[in-house]
Amino acid sequence: MIKVGINGYGTIGKRVAEAVTLQDDMKIVGIVKTKPTYEMRGAIDANYPVFASTKNKIPFFESKGIEVSGVTEDLVNLADIIIDCTPGKLGVNNMEMYEKAGTKAIWQGGEKHEPIGTSFNSLTNYSESIGKDYVRVVSCNTTGLSRTLYPLLNEYGINNVQAVMVRRSGDPKDSDRGPINSIEPVLNVPSHHGPDVQTVISDLNIQTMAVKVPTTIMHVHCIIVELESEPDVSRVIELWDNTPRVDLIEGFLHNEGNKIRNLPGTAEIMEWARDSLYTRGDLNQIAVWKDGVHSFGNKLYYYQAIHQESDVVPENIDAIRAMCNIESDSFKSVEKTNKALGIN
Ligand SMILES: NC(=O)c1ccc[n+]([C@@H]2O[C@H](COP(=O)([O-])OP(=O)(O)OC[C@H]3O[C@@H](n4cnc5c(N)ncnc54)[C@H](OP(=O)(O)O)[C@@H]3O)[C@@H](O)[C@H]2O)c1
Repeated sequence: MIKVGINGYGTIGKRVAEAVTLQDDMKIVGIVKTKPTYEMRGAIDANYPVFASTKNKIPFFESKGIEVSGVTEDLVNLADIIIDCTPGKLGVNNMEMYEKAGTKAIWQGGEKHEPIGTSFNSLTNYSESIGKDYVRVVSCNTTGLSRTLYPLLNEYGINNVQAVMVRRSGDPKDSDRGPINSIEPVLNVPSHHGPDVQTVISDLNIQTMAVKVPTTIMHVHCIIVELESEPDVSRVIELWDNTPRVDLIEGFLHNEGNKIRNLPGTAEIMEWARDSLYTRGDLNQIAVWKDGVHSFGNKLYYYQAIHQESDVVPENIDAIRAMCNIESDSFKSVEKTNKALGIN
């Protein structure tokens, strides 16, 4: 049993914790919180040992009747691997602490690739993380781009990718994020997403742009791929159908000449995910609109939706297996993780 500690129990941390508890080869030995806010609830119900970020915070937890098992360093010493889900750009400051304890660590997409050295996606470069001490699971957007581009790269070869990320402004719980009545473009081109994909699919020629919009539930990507040979749309759909963690959806149904709204947008997609009783009503898979896939010559056009809070969760589980040398075959790990999480 791999002993897993979670440092940073927010949107991603609590989901990774739940996913770990559903596996039979790893378990949660503790989570770190900086303060006893409402997000403690899930940890207490799940009986995760709670660690305060620092010693001086312990009385605050105890004043709320929460039993504290120690501080961050204690959890780091106890765990085989820490999943660092602290806010982006903060997590990397913990590297020295993990190094000192000889504990492996996984960071998330809010960190840069360079100080960590290895970036991870289950489909594209699992083997690069086998036995590694420090790995970064790439961001939700990069994970989404990688999952659908990689099968195209293998089947057709890719000359160039151009993609626009329509990004949610914050997660549903983030009432302090915005904009609430504006659309904000990222004025640097390429946005960081293109270079980030290159950390898990090296040599891919990709340029990205991004805009932030007032929604909380998903990102949408508009993608144009220039392939090395002319694609057949039905073959492309078949490829994605056979790709783990990609779900093909239909925006509209057609019946006797009538066009019926089915999953035309992100609101319906997330309602569909909730109907499917996935954990928390999450959607770990990338949703690709089957009826939005088109080709003109060598160019393929498609749209996909990303549930930012959850698509990286199964990748964290696979990264643990690779780094702790418990599975060298990416397909076996992906299959095991998916089965435990109830996803395809
Ligand atoms: N949300 C997404 O859409 C998403 C998707 C993919 C990747 N990511 C990446 O995942 C990472 C975590 O993001 P998130 O969205 O989960 O953030 P989040 O919801 O803000 O959670 C981070 C948690 O870390 C805790 N924290 C803050 N300072 C800390 C410290 N010094 N030590 C320990 N814990 C601390 C906070 O809880 P307390 O202070 O209450 O303990 C907070 O709840 C980032 O790198 C982010 O870029 C996020």
